[in-house]
Amino acid sequence: MINKCLFPVAGYGTRFLPATKAMPKEILPIVNKPLVQYGVEEASAAGIREFGFVTGRGKRAIEDHFDISYELEHQIAGTGKEEQLNSINELINNHTFAFTRQNEMKGLGHAILTGRNLIGDNAFAVVLADDFCVTEEGDDGVLGQMVQLYRQFRCSIVAIEEVPRDEAHKYGVIAGEPMKDGLYRITDMVEKPAADKAPSNLAIIGRYILTPDIFDILENTPPGKGGEIQITDALLEQARKGCVLAYQFRGRRFDCGSIDGFVEATNYVYQHVYRK
Ligand code: G1P
Repeated sequence: MINKCLFPVAGYGTRFLPATKAMPKEILPIVNKPLVQYGVEEASAAGIREFGFVTGRGKRAIEDHFDISYELEHQIAGTGKEEQLNSINELINNHTFAFTRQNEMKGLGHAILTGRNLIGDNAFAVVLADDFCVTEEGDDGVLGQMVQLYRQFRCSIVAIEEVPRDEAHKYGVIAGEPMKDGLYRITDMVEKPAADKAPSNLAIIGRYILTPDIFDILENTPPGKGGEIQITDALLEQARKGCVLAYQFRGRRFDCGSIDGFVEATNYVYQHVYRK
């Protein structure tokens, strides 16, 4: 029912310079797999088969990653190395990948609006690849958990987690009425508030399910925090008109947009996945 997932991947990744001078931050590997591939795998596990990427200049490597590399495959054909391409080839063979460019950086809301022509008129998922999420073995991925909720509630859903107050300024922060364990109906949300202005300690992380009316709302959303068009502002508008849910997911999230989170994720995957 949620068939499409949008990846806004136009950002520069300045925190990782010089690594990201010529390479997209989404291609940085957690051990031996690019960040963005983990995001696509999580969405695939949630039943999603169509992917749209909002890219920008210098992001060609993402397109190449989700395409066959004839030369490479020819080179390693018949050697044991072939199987190292299994995970990416499985994605390539069973999913479609479409790309469009955001030629001006005007915020996450603007990036999502730029992806409108890749999405159409159905509810869709958004993954910010920087937020790398893991769940217990046997449990659904974060997006899988959200897709199940969407089946029940049919409205936009954002993933949230508790953060210390002094980190509120890094996130969109919600206020909501509890509905059941870990599920809130949003009554307020603020993009990157100062600690004393944060409406709670519940921060949005980079997993969204959005109903398509969000596009018309985004068209009319004025620039907000940082002079950028914020998805948080558009979602608040949607919450006021109808309903937006916030879901405290099961699992753990690493902020791979920061060096510390990136290193923690790398150690985690090395120990729990790669060496296993
Ligand atoms: C974006 C959103 C923010 C959200 C965050 C999650 O911010 O604008 O509301 O909390 O992603 O990672 P960014 O990190 O792109 O500045």
